[in-house]
Amino acid sequence: MDFNNTGDLVGFWNLFVVVIVAVSVIGCGVFLWMQDFAKHKPGEVTGHVWDETLEEYSNPLPNWWRWMFYFTVVFSLVYLALYPGMGSYKGQFDWTMRGQYDAEMKAADAQYGPKFNQFLKQDIMTVAANPEAKQMGGRLFQTYCAQCHGGDAGGQPSFPNLKDGDWLWGGTPEKIKETLTQGRMGIMTPKGTKPDMDAEQTKDVVHFVRSLSGLSSDSIRAQRGKELFPQACAACHGPEGKGNQDAGYPNLTDKVWLYSSQEASMIETVTKGRQNQMPAFGDFLGEAKVHLLTAYVWGLGGGVKAAPPAPPAAAEVVVPVAPAEAVPAEAAKPAEKK
Ligand code: HEC
Ligand code: HEC
Repeated sequence: MDFNNTGDLVGFWNLFVVVIVAVSVIGCGVFLWMQDFAKHKPGEVTGHVWDETLEEYSNPLPNWWRWMFYFTVVFSLVYLALYPGMGSYKGQFDWTMRGQYDAEMKAADAQYGPKFNQFLKQDIMTVAANPEAKQMGGRLFQTYCAQCHGGDAGGQPSFPNLKDGDWLWGGTPEKIKETLTQGRMGIMTPKGTKPDMDAEQTKDVVHFVRSLSGLSSDSIRAQRGKELFPQACAACHGPEGKGNQDAGYPNLTDKVWLYSSQEASMIETVTKGRQNQMPAFGDFLGEAKVHLLTAYVWGLGGGVKAAPPAPPAAAEVVVPVAPAEAVPAEAAKPAEKK
């Protein structure tokens, strides 16, 4: 079909639609009108028989029925004059789906906007401690996030758990907000940075990775894998396999797995690589809703107080902004570094 740049039908297809609509409506009227002249012999059968028993009588259409049909024809003509329907003709009311949607969004914004905006002035930890904000955030989460992260935010393979203290991209208010606003893309290249690794070597390096977190592993394979790791994997996962939150490289030494702790799944990860996208919500939801959702996610239990999660004394990092009771008990613990 041909459309012009405002999405209207043009050329042949416009004409095609106009002709079909006009012929249907007018044809219907003409057909009804012709019925006025049909000759009937009330009480007699026409000779049409169905199913060997059903016979058709030669009776005219009941009047109420005929007038109802006339009414629908007139209604269609009035409708087509007022609303779009005749090809690219817009109708007298100039109604569009887009226009109605925009008007409804504007009305909703005027009604609910202030409710969302009131929290925008507060910092994330204060918002996270507010029961009303938590409910609103929870509803937003069910609408926009639950299909991937699960209704309880517990995640599923490839979609991270958001309730624990284990973060791919960081669990401070700033980092979570950045994740929601811009989206994230987790990319692991097939076979790491050593593309000539064969199936045996892949298995070896996987066994080494398993040994890092105490999973069952073959010690001989793990020993061989250990020699492959620095060259093939350390560029992203770090020399000790502890990952890097600035780039979304997971820690391989903890017990939290985005995919699975099964050997087969790890071999698949290394062999085929992974590509995993968190969509960006900044433009779609707007700042106020992203703020609420950030507070909701932060308050689920894994929120980290200060950026960056400093290595030795993370627990002592003092956050001046939020009063102590504003921090959910769970989150007040230092997030276990993955
Ligand atoms: C289409 C599926 C999808 C939807 C919808 C989705 N996410 Fe995600 N999200 C992901 C994936 C996949 C990742 C992991 C990205 C990666 O592997 O680096 C992720 C990562 C995250 C992270 C980072 C977790 C970490 O460990 O650092 C947060 C926070 C998050 N999502 C919150 C949300 C919120 C809040 C919503 C709703 C507004 C949402 N997500 C909607 C797929 C989704
Ligand atoms: C280019 C950077 C990069 C290299 C090199 C790399 N990885 Fe990864 N790896 C990632 C990213 C990013 C993810 C997370 C993918 C996602 O977000 O879905 C990941 C995920 C994994 C996982 C799954 C973790 C989980 O929680 O389920 C395993 C296992 C893994 N890598 C092992 C390896 C091994 C072994 C090597 C070396 C052969 C390696 N990686 C090399 C970036 C890399």
